[in-house]
Amino acid sequence: MVSATLIFVIGAIVAIYYYFSKRDKRMSKYPPGPMGIPILGNALQLGKEPHHTFIKWSKKYGKTISVQLALDRCVVLNDLKMIRDMFNETAFSGRPQNELFLALSGGNYGVLNSDGPTWESQRRFTLRHLRDFGFGKNSMELLIMEEVREMIEWMKNEEGHPLSLNRKFSLAVLNSLWQIVSGKRFDQKDTTLNDLLDSTTKTFNEVSSNGILIFAPWLSKYFPNLSGHNKINWAVKQLVTFFRKTVEDHKDSDPDQDQPENFIEYYMKEIKKTNDPQSTFYKENGMKNLIAVVGDLFQAGSETTSTTLAWAVLYLLREPETQKKLQAEIDSVIGKSRNPTLADRPDMPYTEAVIMEVLRYSSLVPTGVFHRTLFDKEMHGYFFPKGTWIMPNLYAVHHDKEIWGDPENFRPERFLKDGKVVSKPEAFLPFVVGKRACIGETLARDSLFLFMASIFQRFQILPDPSNPKPTIQPGFGFLLAPKPFTVILKDRLEA
Ligand code: HEM
Repeated sequence: MVSATLIFVIGAIVAIYYYFSKRDKRMSKYPPGPMGIPILGNALQLGKEPHHTFIKWSKKYGKTISVQLALDRCVVLNDLKMIRDMFNETAFSGRPQNELFLALSGGNYGVLNSDGPTWESQRRFTLRHLRDFGFGKNSMELLIMEEVREMIEWMKNEEGHPLSLNRKFSLAVLNSLWQIVSGKRFDQKDTTLNDLLDSTTKTFNEVSSNGILIFAPWLSKYFPNLSGHNKINWAVKQLVTFFRKTVEDHKDSDPDQDQPENFIEYYMKEIKKTNDPQSTFYKENGMKNLIAVVGDLFQAGSETTSTTLAWAVLYLLREPETQKKLQAEIDSVIGKSRNPTLADRPDMPYTEAVIMEVLRYSSLVPTGVFHRTLFDKEMHGYFFPKGTWIMPNLYAVHHDKEIWGDPENFRPERFLKDGKVVSKPEAFLPFVVGKRACIGETLARDSLFLFMASIFQRFQILPDPSNPKPTIQPGFGFLLAPKPFTVILKDRLEA
């Protein structure tokens, strides 16, 4: 009874809010979109694959559309120019301060989910000091290759029988980043961490499939089980405990030492020397930001590159001719007797084009990470009120017929011109663009190159006869990941 009254009162507030907001003349320039229902707006119409629903709606309302997600206004950009131009503007550099998104950061802390001055200072510091500790340097290549070697050894032992690689790359890819962040690497046999990754990913995917927690977190409090609130709380607790412990493991390191050995130690030194209570590095505030940044790097660095590698294996399994061409380039530039290096990259345009096509075709983060409008802003004839969420439909851009001609085909050649890779294609946005663009792009692309060149140099990836053409229909989740599939490895050195 209490819940019904509450829902009625909230419905009335939303209706009044709508009425008055429509009176603002500028709202006539607010993008059009489908009608929703009271209270939940369009939240229940998004379906299991919102990126496809948005493409369908864009045919009726135009490429820039509005949707009402419970109490939040949201504009979906299915248009390349709008994404490129808007994401370079400070006005659109915020993040929704939504309970679910903030749960892992503990509030407006860190880089990934924060905004305003906290985000500016934490992003600047994180970028600068990840570089100091190896990002984009030779030392990073050595760290990645250490993981590649271990992976190839493991694969060698698993040759000849059906093998699942879906989740195998997570720790291998995370380790090079983690050495820079905390000075440690994870053992592949560390079942605790593998289990933590598995169970939390599963929980987030399950919960994001009902959407209520994202769009109406206030409602979930009244239905904690049904909405997934309890499940997500459990997953968040596990992860935050792990992030906090990672930081606490460094608390005995000497902050006065001249040469901190990793990012966490350097950050602790910064906290120690900060005297300005307004600073985001000051005392307790500094610790909260540090724990959130560690969590951001863990989340952003583990499942993204590793899932892209899993897609690469799946596509090349289904496209044996592309696999052969890739191996022909590897054989002619590197041969079979030495390891690939990043210096080989300029001579390997086909490999580069395959990686780009994997990133385009899979569109791992289909609707990007949501932005938020920090103040009222007009742009290209549209009006965006303060607080509006902005969703870039990267999948729509990557699969736009007008841009790519045949987006439905996996065809790396689209990224080649006169035998060279097309540099920075306008519509290639896996890492997005502008002020909040991914800070891990270089690491991700270096890792993808070294892992792919090394794996396909050594192994031919063959179908498992019990399921020779696994589906490319992704499982449901915030990240598009392949459904479990198996392959058979054949050592090319023994051929
Ligand atoms: C294939 C791999 C990856 C893909 C496809 C990817 C994609 C993305 C996307 C779509 C965003 C959102 C950008 C926006 O808000 O407009 C993002 C942000 C971010 N990524 Fe990545 N990412 C990858 C790997 C990594 C790695 C390895 C790291 C580790 C350093 C990383 C760290 C971050 C961080 C910290 C942000 C938040 C930036 C901010 O809010 O200012 N990413 N990434």
